[in-house]
Amino acid sequence: MVDYAIEIGNLVKRFGSLTAVNGVGLKIKKGEIFGLLGPNGAGKSTTINIILGLLAPTSGKIYVNGIDMLKEPEKAKGQIGIVTQETVVEPELTAEDNLRIFGRLYQIPNNELQKDIDFALRLADLEGFRKAYAGTFSGGMKRRLETAKALMHTPQIILLDEPTTGLDVQNRTKIWELLRRINKEQGVTILMTTQYLEEADQLCDRIAIIDHGKLIALGTPTELRQKIGMSTIVEVTADRDLLAKISQIFKKVGLEPKVLSNSVVAPAGTKSVEKVERILKLLSASRINAHNVSMHEPTIDDVFLKLTGSSARDDTGQYKDSRSMMFGRGR
Ligand SMILES: Nc1ncnc2c1ncn2[C@@H]1O[C@H](COP(=O)(O)OP(=O)(O)OP(=O)(O)O)[C@@H](O)[C@H]1O
Ligand SMILES: [Mg+2]
Repeated sequence: MVDYAIEIGNLVKRFGSLTAVNGVGLKIKKGEIFGLLGPNGAGKSTTINIILGLLAPTSGKIYVNGIDMLKEPEKAKGQIGIVTQETVVEPELTAEDNLRIFGRLYQIPNNELQKDIDFALRLADLEGFRKAYAGTFSGGMKRRLETAKALMHTPQIILLDEPTTGLDVQNRTKIWELLRRINKEQGVTILMTTQYLEEADQLCDRIAIIDHGKLIALGTPTELRQKIGMSTIVEVTADRDLLAKISQIFKKVGLEPKVLSNSVVAPAGTKSVEKVERILKLLSASRINAHNVSMHEPTIDDVFLKLTGSSARDDTGQYKDSRSMMFGRGR
């Protein structure tokens, strides 16, 4: 019995002079929801496509359920269901026919096909839309149909590349429910990529953070938080030209500041309230007009900041909605 659903070792992928994946090693346990988190161009899709056998690695090892992808690609591929980054439902076919075509492609026997289609539609909460044309579906419904499709041949592992990017909160939550359900009820192992910090945090049992093709952190969401200490984060938001002065004030009260695009942040360590009080006094004494002074519990973004020295947040630097929880290097 193999313990790992997916095992990759020292994976490297070069495109000419660009190294898209640079020595990544991961062991994904059976039954786990595993998130590959990283900004645009981090190497998430490249990693996923190699695991799917769609792309050959420059070097490294890939095992799916213990089967060597490089030696027995067809057998290894057969273990996995796929949801790619681009949505590929056929708009001129009904939901049911989209699934039927896919089922035939996977050579599901005719006597089982209808049962599998019904199962997939139920999972995706699309039973009421079976006869509707996929072209009329919302982005979220298309994504759910896509996910259901990946489950048609009842794989034990499914790989999803940014399943919720661009979806509104409601549809994102529906996809999360679907993934949790297949994970709990069917024991399906899920490897997914995401740019949403919040998504990785809430949905995944473990997270690997990658940037520039390198693995920079690995652990449960809690472990990742502990990595930077459970310390509260102090943040002062202000006009850009004031940030250097604010940074000096942080140092005066014994903090190690990082300057972001429109704020200064630091883990507060012990006595965080006292430190914030002193910061407020010094700001006032120096007549520095800050927009906002706040304390918050560390997020995955703070882990990213601590590890890379650059913020993963978008320029607003706020955590107000899920959009701002997204990595911010353009799309
Ligand atoms: N076929 C290719 N040829 C050349 N370069 C490529 C190719 N595919 C990807 N890259 C480059 O490799 C790097 C990693 O790309 P990848 O698509 O894996 O990133 P990603 O983390 O999936 O990003 P995104 O969040 O934008 O989907 C990028 O710099 C990208 O431009
Ligand atoms: Mg990608």
